[in-house]
Amino acid sequence: MNPRLFSFIGGNGSGWSVVSIETVVGDPLPAVERVDIVAGAISQIPDGGTWILRGVTSNDRYVTRGEKESLIAKQAALGRPDATHAALIPIRKSTEWWALTQDERRAIFEEQSRHVEIGLKYLPAIARRLHHCRDLGDAELFDFLTLFDYSKADSAAFDDLVAALRETKEWKFVEREIDIRLVRAS
Ligand code: HEM
Repeated sequence: MNPRLFSFIGGNGSGWSVVSIETVVGDPLPAVERVDIVAGAISQIPDGGTWILRGVTSNDRYVTRGEKESLIAKQAALGRPDATHAALIPIRKSTEWWALTQDERRAIFEEQSRHVEIGLKYLPAIARRLHHCRDLGDAELFDFLTLFDYSKADSAAFDDLVAALRETKEWKFVEREIDIRLVRAS
C-alpha cells in the first residue's frame, strides 16, 4: 500500500459529519452526510458511499528553504484532540495554470499572491495536509484535495484565511472549488 495515498468517501456511512457543502466555483459535488478519510486506495465505492476522491501527499513544489523552515517551526499535525472541526476543499486549476512553467507558477503562488505568508499567520491553529490528484489519472475530478482541522474557536479564523486566499491572483486560476465543512462525529 502507498502510505501517501488517501481516499475521501462521501456518503451516508461513517466518518466526519458534513456541516455544509458550498460550491465556490464550477460544477457541484453531490451532497452527502458523511465524509470518511481512509488511508490507502479504495477502488470501489462502498455501500452507503456516493463519491470517492483520492490524492497523494507529495514533496513540496514551491517553497523556499526559508519558508519551509518557518512552516516546520510553526505547523501542527492533523488530529489534535481539540481539532473537532475540519474542512475538505477539493480544487481544480485551469489548463492555463498547468501550461505555465514552474518559475511562473511560483511567482504567482508566492510573490504575487503571498500564499505561504498569509497561511503562516494561521499556524499552528490550523493544521493542514495537501493531497495531489492530477497524476493519479484522468478519472480524478480535482487537482488537489486540501484538508484542514482546527478547534471550534478557530472556525472564524479559518473563514478569514479562506477569504484572503480567494482574493489572490492564484485563485484566478481555480476553475472548480468545493468547500466542505466537517465536524467530528460524536
Ligand atoms: C493553513 C494555512 C496554510 C498554509 C500554511 C499553506 C501553505 C501552503 C504551502 C507551503 C503550499 C505549497 C507546497 C509546495 O511547495 O508545493 C500550499 C499549496 C497549496 N495550498 Fe495552501 N496553505 C494554507 C492554507 C490553504 C487553504 C485554506 C487552501 C484552500 C482554500 C489552500 C490551498 C492550497 C492549494 C490548492 C495548494 C497547491 C497549489 C499548487 O500546487 O498549485 N491552502 N499551501
